Amino acid sequence: MSAWGSGYVTDIAYMTGWYRQQSPSIMALACLLGSVSMSIPGGDDPVHVLELGCGQGYGAMLLAASNPTWRVTGVDFNPAHIAAAREWAAEAGLTNVTFIEADLATLAGEEAGRRIPEADFVSLHGVWSWVPQAVQDGIVRLLRDKVRPGGAVHVSYNCLPGWGPAIGMQRLLREAGKRLAWRSDRQAEEGLSVVQSLLEADAAHLGRSPFVKALMARMGSAPVAYVAHEYMNEQWKPCFMADVAASLADAKLDWVASAQLTENFLALSLTPEQQAVVRKFEDPMMRELVKDMCLERTLRHDVFVRGARRLNNAGRDAALMDVTIGLAIDPDDLPLEATMPAGRAELNPRFYQPIARALAGGPARAGDLLALPEIEGRRDNPAELLGMMIGLDFAEVVTRPGAEPGPEGLRFNRVTGTRFARTESLGRSVGLASRRAGSAVGAALLDLIVLEQLRDGEADIDSLMRRIAPPEDQAAKVRASLQESLHKRMPILRRLGVF
Ligand SMILES: C[S@@+](CC[C@H](N)C(=O)[O-])C[C@H]1O[C@@H](n2cnc3c(N)ncnc32)[C@H](O)[C@@H]1O
Repeated sequence: MSAWGSGYVTDIAYMTGWYRQQSPSIMALACLLGSVSMSIPGGDDPVHVLELGCGQGYGAMLLAASNPTWRVTGVDFNPAHIAAAREWAAEAGLTNVTFIEADLATLAGEEAGRRIPEADFVSLHGVWSWVPQAVQDGIVRLLRDKVRPGGAVHVSYNCLPGWGPAIGMQRLLREAGKRLAWRSDRQAEEGLSVVQSLLEADAAHLGRSPFVKALMARMGSAPVAYVAHEYMNEQWKPCFMADVAASLADAKLDWVASAQLTENFLALSLTPEQQAVVRKFEDPMMRELVKDMCLERTLRHDVFVRGARRLNNAGRDAALMDVTIGLAIDPDDLPLEATMPAGRAELNPRFYQPIARALAGGPARAGDLLALPEIEGRRDNPAELLGMMIGLDFAEVVTRPGAEPGPEGLRFNRVTGTRFARTESLGRSVGLASRRAGSAVGAALLDLIVLEQLRDGEADIDSLMRRIAPPEDQAAKVRASLQESLHKRMPILRRLGVF
């Protein structure tokens, strides 16, 4: 543990990942679903995005590579993170992203903080509940200074009461790990092993808690850097949503909605009896508290706005009708039901299938999809269409429908593929920069390898197999994944403007 880290893990780097909730278009869509005015940035809009606690900057770079007219700033206090991010951005030739090494506890009062321009969108992913009070206070001061009036902020954090049953597990993992090893990744491994032993020995607060059991089952395959940054920090405090909202109110930020889009729909989240209790309250804090009591939600992705301008239903629907989306699945793979916290939700095939078929031809406005003559269902509910299609990952927001792939995105994707291929597994999820989407599009590393081959000419399975050279016992599986990637994923990525 370093002296400058205020108890946060600084001796090993955090892993790299793309989290869609950090995308300005998802934040803006969440605002519209929450009946708050917000433009989805597109075209040549001069947007400034600020990411606080950006790690190695992968998410910030994806946004910069997808939106050459934007300016993106990432801040992190770990010099190893900032060095890696700057090197990666330079290799990819990105000139619209800046990485600042600074402590969020003090940045607001410093010259480096004063030089950061006002931000239209800010994201803090995986930071708030893992840092001490002094850092949270510094974050609020920075947001007060830097979020432009009308700007949006995404904050993710471990929440209560969902995390309640595992508070003991985290404490044990950290305390045991610290006593049994030196570096944080080794401490995480040792701590996990002690928790696992006690869980198997039927400790009342471990093995008998379904949440802890499920968590530990997931931890078995989680990257150790993730486990260390999640559990080995001196300060870790899951929070009630209302307490986070009260802190951010000091930066004049109002809670608006969840960036997990389906969570904004009561009917998808709660049973009719639970909804009846929620509906007793007008205060969104109370409504969210009731929801948090009902849902097994442990990580919240909240969107706040500085100066929320409320829309009436007609205004909200008009804005939503104008949102353009692109299909992110094969139209033949559209599921007809989805598992939701409230139970299984059925997707009416006479409504969703014609929409998926129309989107197979290219991105379309929600309003145009709802005007398709062949659909059967409600044509006046763009919120449901967008909430389901995007919230369930069947589609992506598309901000520049006619845009061809830009050189910045193509180069960033290529550089990233080469970097990841050295160390990561083929199934590893990645984001691919897309100017058309104005954001990253989710894929697997294998897709990136196929893309690379396509760039050099025709991609065929045999030459890809030679290039990847999987171990013999993996060959059949890799071949099947390549088939899927070539024949299903590539048409999707092409439609979404990745190449
Ligand atoms: C769990 S990681 C999340 C990284 C990135 N947002 C992501 O989701 O991939 C939290 C990050 O916050 C940074 N961090 C923690 N305390 C900080 C502080 N006081 N000032 C600046 N950065 C901090 C860490 O170095 C780390 O990169």
